[in-house]
Amino acid sequence: MVQLTLPKNSKITEGQSFKAPADAKKTRTFRVYRWNPDDKKNPRLDSYEIDMSKCGPMVLDALIYIKNEVDPTLTFRRSCREGVCGSCAMNIDGTNTLACTKHLDDVKGDVKITPLPHLPVMKDLVPDLSMPYAQYATIEPWMKTQSSPPSREHLQSATDANILNGEDGHGPAACILCFCCSTSCPSYWWNGDRFLGPAILLQAYRWLADTRDEAAGERLDQLEDPFRLYRCHTIMNCTNTCPKGLNPAKAIAEIKKLMVARKA
Ligand code: SF4
Ligand code: SF4
Ligand code: FES
Repeated sequence: MVQLTLPKNSKITEGQSFKAPADAKKTRTFRVYRWNPDDKKNPRLDSYEIDMSKCGPMVLDALIYIKNEVDPTLTFRRSCREGVCGSCAMNIDGTNTLACTKHLDDVKGDVKITPLPHLPVMKDLVPDLSMPYAQYATIEPWMKTQSSPPSREHLQSATDANILNGEDGHGPAACILCFCCSTSCPSYWWNGDRFLGPAILLQAYRWLADTRDEAAGERLDQLEDPFRLYRCHTIMNCTNTCPKGLNPAKAIAEIKKLMVARKA
């Protein structure tokens, strides 16, 4: 029989509460998902009341403040701190986004922070990205050519480069592989082991659209499968969620058009 309730050990419990110093004038409470694979306990939501005069304006600033000043056991990923590495992707206030570019003024009330949904959690806010990266490897994300190499680099016209970069800078080459889109896609939640999901399909399109690449047929053959591509039902969560303003749903539609065109 189908189990419709969460297993006991996955239920989120109320965790510890950390108060701001008594002289703090302006405070905010951050409710943060915590789970440690080593202590065999259920996940919990810890509450941190933070003196906002001590911390910067972004959600990542608050997490760094908590880690440095309140609770060094809190674990999360981050690197660039300016929206280009994709490592600080998490669910903030119910939406997948980048902690470093999410302004605290854009969140009302307490700030609830949980890991990207529907991926195994390694610890606290760190999801296990092994599966999406294994899927990334399957699309062979590098230029493939058959003709003899040019004497210098492979040149590309500005018009062709614009297909990748986008006239407005929001083309497929601007993807930072944060996986906010894939983890907001219901089809990826249910069939993530077989559907490639919007992030990887956007990358697949990036190589199909590259006029220097000569492996389009082979790339389309690899995607021609009832699950890998066709589990996208144009629900659009991916495009609505992308913190970089990209359009993975459109890229998937373009791949489907290429599939139709080659059969015509
Ligand atoms: S448009 Fe496709 S890939 Fe994007 S959220 Fe919907 S089903 Fe997922
Ligand atoms: S398309 Fe957007 S949300 Fe998806 S991985 Fe790329 S940058 Fe992240
Ligand atoms: S820390 Fe690099 S995108 Fe946020």
